[in-house]
Amino acid sequence: MTERTLVLVKPDGVERKLVGEVVVRIERKGLDLVALEMRTVDRELAAQHYAEHDGKPFFSSLLEFITSGPVVAAVVEGPRAIAAFRQLAGGTDPVEKAAPGSIRGDFGLETQSNLVHGSDSPESAAREIKLWFPSL
Ligand code: TYD
Ligand code: MG
Repeated sequence: MTERTLVLVKPDGVERKLVGEVVVRIERKGLDLVALEMRTVDRELAAQHYAEHDGKPFFSSLLEFITSGPVVAAVVEGPRAIAAFRQLAGGTDPVEKAAPGSIRGDFGLETQSNLVHGSDSPESAAREIKLWFPSL
């Protein structure tokens, strides 16, 4: 069951020069890169991307953060790619939830600036890929 997932290296990951590190881990896992692009995110794209969190206390801070600098957006493909990338990323809170050996567990300290995004379900992946890469 080949799947596609949307991956972002968030502004903190780009700022900290961890793009290569993330790409290495994706490739080492055996997943394929289908698209890879540096992007600046305007408020509208950010709000659409994080629409499920609209109304939560961290929403406006999250939009500020994700629009604060360039991101690297990728479409990643492979068997169970959605779960496989979530495994590489680690849990949302880099200290309490992400295991050492995961991207967030190895490099993150704060929940907001947790370095990467990965789609959380086939429905989210389809929606997010259409949003970020409408031509795919
Ligand atoms: P969420 O979709 O729950 O996490 P994930 O990125 O693991 O799918 O939340 C989206 C992002 O919002 C999360 O990566 C970091 C940020 N966030 C906060 O800043 N505070 C919070 O309490 C939560 C749950 C998320
Ligand atoms: Mg999420």
